Amino acid sequence: MTQPSSRPVRYIDDDRDLPRFRVNRAAMVDPDVFAREQERIFDKVWLYVGHETELTKPNDFKTRTVAGRPLIFARDRRGVVQVWVNSCPHRGAMICREPAGNARFMTCFYHGWSFDTSGRLVSVPGDTAYGPDFVRPGLAAPPQVDSYRGFVFVSFNPDVEPLADYLAEATEFIDLVCDQSESGMQVLEGTHEYSVKANWKLLVENSYDGYHAVSTHQRYFEMVMASGAELDATALGDSIGVALGNGHAASVGGPNTGGMFGRPLSAAAQAERQGRFESLRGRHGAAWVDRMTGARNLVIFPNLVIIDLVMGVVIRKIDPVRPDYMEVTAWELVPPEEGAELRKQRLDNFLTFWGPGGLASPDDVEALETCQRSFAAHRELPWSDVSRGMVSAVPLGSDELQMRTWWRRWNELVNDEVLPPEPHDPPGDRFRGERLELQDQGTSV
Ligand code: FES
Ligand SMILES: [Fe+2]
Repeated sequence: MTQPSSRPVRYIDDDRDLPRFRVNRAAMVDPDVFAREQERIFDKVWLYVGHETELTKPNDFKTRTVAGRPLIFARDRRGVVQVWVNSCPHRGAMICREPAGNARFMTCFYHGWSFDTSGRLVSVPGDTAYGPDFVRPGLAAPPQVDSYRGFVFVSFNPDVEPLADYLAEATEFIDLVCDQSESGMQVLEGTHEYSVKANWKLLVENSYDGYHAVSTHQRYFEMVMASGAELDATALGDSIGVALGNGHAASVGGPNTGGMFGRPLSAAAQAERQGRFESLRGRHGAAWVDRMTGARNLVIFPNLVIIDLVMGVVIRKIDPVRPDYMEVTAWELVPPEEGAELRKQRLDNFLTFWGPGGLASPDDVEALETCQRSFAAHRELPWSDVSRGMVSAVPLGSDELQMRTWWRRWNELVNDEVLPPEPHDPPGDRFRGERLELQDQGTSV
């Protein structure tokens, strides 16, 4: 613990009269804050571990780190998704040391204890030495595991609220992504893994920050324009920020937005994508499909990002490691029925725009790392300003309602200070169309 005197009186300055919202930069550097985040956020809420479609066959497994804990994300031999602690109950060695595989039995390399994919200890070398009453310990599991439309979450808090309650209105935005495939969206094999020398909260903010796009990624836009492609600059303005409960929030584009990022798709690929949306209108209703065709950058509190643009859908998991260092994993989510050429163009964008060596992510990493270095002077310049759009009737995607929503939840959990949500007008009808099936369910009883 640091000395009480070194802690600022408040981390969040939420002044509704001015209005002004500020975050104290000590929150980005202080090891005490980092420890409180682990205890009060990561030990308490639901955390994303992976997508069900990453495990295609019985006995498939992936290793994951969630809240610093090594986990095994697996399907057992019956095909049921399981999450295990990747630590041998004998004396602690890591049981799975490969990132992925398929195995009916997992054998600890230290003394050879062996477990099946249901977590049972099935073989102990020389087990007569333990006597007849020895209780064979199985693999440990996080106390709570649940999924929503293929997204699997764990919680290390046995008393956590049900996942669907926790996700609150964010479920609607997950639905807008998942409904894009009739057979179910699928995560492609392969990940982007990179690290950033910056506080993890800076990438959370950046992930739905519409304000930075034109300046930070200027070189990228110049490149696109030099290639002769038309940039639809109005698309940036046609977006709003929405708060979705429990700290979740999104920036959301109107219909047919999200096309200005990434290398433009070919006319044939565009037509295929558009055709699939058309084919979904009967099933989900025009208003819902119109919403589907818009961009969305969604953050599920605290560290799961889903970004859905014309060029592709990315799932991003942000892991705090130290106050000034984070690790990031990203996956591409696709409708399995999309054609080879569209898939190729979207994958190319996943690599060349979002990838660690792409044309966008390195710019963001550079911005975040300079923020972190400058926070060495946080005592001389304590506050970052996050006020943009507080005065707006309906905040835009280029405003900062998303971040304020996240920070207020952070403040509630970390500092026990509850601040009221911001009053704004409801968004226009284009942003509120309901899914046809849901309407039917609501009226058929
Ligand atoms: S630590 Fe795994 S068998 Fe001993
Ligand atoms: Fe960016």
